[in-house]
Amino acid sequence: MLTNQDNNNYSFNIDKFYKNYLKGPKIFRNREALEPSFIPNELPHRDNEIEKIAGITACALNGDVPPNFLCYGMTGTGKTATIRYLSQKIAQHCTANPPWWIYINCNIVSTPYRILAHIYNTIVGKEKIPPTGLPKDIILKKLLGLFDQTIKESVCFLVLDEIDILVEKKGGNEILYNLTRLNENLDLCRTSVIGISNKLKLMQFLDSRVTSTLDEEEPIVFHPYNANELADILYLRANIAFDEGVIEEGVIKLCAGLAAREHGDARKALQLLRKAGETAERNQSRKVLEQHVHKAQKEIDKDHIVEYIFSMPLQAQLTLTAVYLLTKYNADNVITSGDIYEVHNDLASRIPGLKQLTHRRISDYINELALAGLINANTKSMGHYGRTKIIKLDVDNELMERVLSRITRIKTHDLLNYKPILLQGDKVRVKNNVFKKLL
Ligand SMILES: Nc1ncnc2c1ncn2[C@@H]1O[C@H](COP(=O)(O)OP(=O)(O)O)[C@@H](O)[C@H]1O
Ligand SMILES: [Mg+2]
Repeated sequence: MLTNQDNNNYSFNIDKFYKNYLKGPKIFRNREALEPSFIPNELPHRDNEIEKIAGITACALNGDVPPNFLCYGMTGTGKTATIRYLSQKIAQHCTANPPWWIYINCNIVSTPYRILAHIYNTIVGKEKIPPTGLPKDIILKKLLGLFDQTIKESVCFLVLDEIDILVEKKGGNEILYNLTRLNENLDLCRTSVIGISNKLKLMQFLDSRVTSTLDEEEPIVFHPYNANELADILYLRANIAFDEGVIEEGVIKLCAGLAAREHGDARKALQLLRKAGETAERNQSRKVLEQHVHKAQKEIDKDHIVEYIFSMPLQAQLTLTAVYLLTKYNADNVITSGDIYEVHNDLASRIPGLKQLTHRRISDYINELALAGLINANTKSMGHYGRTKIIKLDVDNELMERVLSRITRIKTHDLLNYKPILLQGDKVRVKNNVFKKLL
């Protein structure tokens, strides 16, 4: 590890640290090549998709307007990369009047108003339309004028990435309706919409008026990559990103194999390889080894757990806290869903204004936590007493304590240090009242 420890007196010397760092072995040549925003010169295993999209969009080379179309596929299947790659290729082959490309990530530019403002501001090259304030139909009118004045007789591609997020929002279908029919109100410019969706079920959420303009072409479906395909993608990127001879044999295959297990997401595979490189660097290793990949994978798993727990609703966080406390104070005994119900309601009663939940709701949360891999829940038959779930925490206790202790309401009410009544041997709870046991 990079440290600068003298005797037993540890004091961090930042100058020494940086000098050591610069003297240390060099792992990366171009770290950026592993970032999701990097557009590679070739996209292995996407020939079919590229061919189909090239076919649909080729007429733009002659200034004609291509039909609107959709791309579908799970995250990390190369949809965004493929469209960006194609936009560069079209620009390279266009001699006159190259098409415009306006790229909108609906996860970031997330309201109909902001989408219109974003298109307008991108065309003029400055922030002309304020983030809020104007009526939508006025911006739409201004936008139509701008298309004809500025883009004139060229084609303008409007790429709506992560379109599924827009469709689920209020006014999403209406803005799509407007954007897919801009040409009806344009004199010179011609627009073409490319929708990119992470969800295959997008069509179900689309208004039939929008569907009819978006499915003029067969949608392009991007399939998840298998381990071999991911390995090919990683080899190409690793050649740009790492110094020669730095990657130990087996590392790429391992990264590809691990990422393939999680629905063949190229972004995850690249992230794993980058983290493995960074782990090697921090350990001052000359090579990226398989052990660095395993370490990196553990870090990523931890990050996901933390992120997931933070994003859960408070009641689910409390259900998890109940499992945590039952494990902490009662390690040797089994935990049933009934115990979790008791402890959850005990905890909820300590937070003013929070509702207590029914058995059924708690049971739903238990299922969700199990699906997320945070707990293990096995149904067991209890003979005459019916069936119950036996629950176990599936995440390291220490990590759980660290994450839960950062949730404000859990922290302010000091819930992690609270011993639930169920576990206070001398007390019993009857309909929200706590009594001391007589025996
Ligand atoms: N066939 C491929 N060849 C090279 N890199 C790829 C390929 N497919 C995906 N990638 C890379 O994987 C990452 C995720 O791809 P992306 O296009 O963002 O996926 P999606 O938009 O489907 O979620 C990006 O860094 C991208 O460059
Ligand atoms: Mg994408």
